[in-house]
Amino acid sequence: MATLAASPAVEIIRKAHPSPASAEAREAAIADPGFGKVFTDHMVVIDWAEGKGWHNAVLGPREPIALDPAASVLHYAQEIFEGMKAYRMADGSMSLFRADRNAARFNASARRLAMPEIPEELFTRAVRQLVELDAQWFPPVAGGSLYIRPFMFATEPFLGVRPAKQHKFVVILSPAGNYFKSGAPAVSVWVSEFTRAARGGTGAAKCGGNYAASLVPTGVAFDNGHDQVVFLDAEEHKWIEELGGMNLFFVFDDGTLLTPPLSGTILPGITRDSLLTLARAEGLEVREERYSIDQWEADAKSGRLVECFACGTAAVVTPVGRVAGKDVDFTIGSGGPGQLTGSLRDKLVAIQRGTAEDTHGWVTKIA
Ligand code: PLP
Ligand code: COI
Repeated sequence: MATLAASPAVEIIRKAHPSPASAEAREAAIADPGFGKVFTDHMVVIDWAEGKGWHNAVLGPREPIALDPAASVLHYAQEIFEGMKAYRMADGSMSLFRADRNAARFNASARRLAMPEIPEELFTRAVRQLVELDAQWFPPVAGGSLYIRPFMFATEPFLGVRPAKQHKFVVILSPAGNYFKSGAPAVSVWVSEFTRAARGGTGAAKCGGNYAASLVPTGVAFDNGHDQVVFLDAEEHKWIEELGGMNLFFVFDDGTLLTPPLSGTILPGITRDSLLTLARAEGLEVREERYSIDQWEADAKSGRLVECFACGTAAVVTPVGRVAGKDVDFTIGSGGPGQLTGSLRDKLVAIQRGTAEDTHGWVTKIA
């Protein structure tokens, strides 16, 4: 079990909430939370300034943040975020899953966006204290979790284009059920003509700008009746990269798996990495190799491709049943959930929720 060592470097001051939600209001809000719509009572805010470093760390009421209209984030989108979850363990306690990886990826994103890194210990302490304080917001729904959203943005009032000298790090919590509201056994994806990321760009960073650029393509996917958008590479518009908010895996009839390589243009998913580890530990062959849209279609049609799934913190492991686009429309396998997809999902969820042994040291119990 991983440990989150304490460091006295930056003390997080607790500020009392004058009017937290009543138990009745909270229970109503978390009864069927969906994804990303319900928020808990508190948040953490920590400031950073050049020459001063991290300071002014407060765990207090969740409330609007005042920003100068010239704050760099509002003009040049200097912003990064993470997505992680607190899980309910079989024994009633809560856990974080590979929080150190989220902290490390947050700092990798910070470097790419010319922002200050935050000590991993402070990142995880902020997350942990917030989750412990708002634990009663854990939703009582199947597959429920407390979705954790740490983020950082440039607050310096300055319109020149250069890295800002003042930033805010914030953590909020959102009780969550399923990411996909359709509740369908498998999702349908739309192959976009737009590009998400090019070599040398910010595709491997978790910055808001990547998601802003994905909104029109995602809107086209929704308008065509699909759940998510698939992005192809920028140069040849041929190689499958990832979905708008998830990585992709392919399962073949010989029992092997394939996922696109971390080329610098896709997000290095922590779920992706965990599934690679679990699959390889089981003796499955997993290739991190380029896979083209034409091959995807040919393999689905010939039956060589038997399953496909999307994975990410929000979506966990979600089967992909149908693929469509301007010139393509095909079904994968039966169009529903596949066997290997289900067993990998179950293994991952069992570790996250403490019903299977955590042999990789991925789980940190917190409350
Ligand atoms: N790809 C993108 C673009 C994402 O937004 C996410 C979600 O965070 C992922 C992949 C999956 O990453 P992870 O498994 O770390 O949540
Ligand atoms: C996540 O899976 O945590 C994500 O950030 C994906 C999406 C909600 C942006």
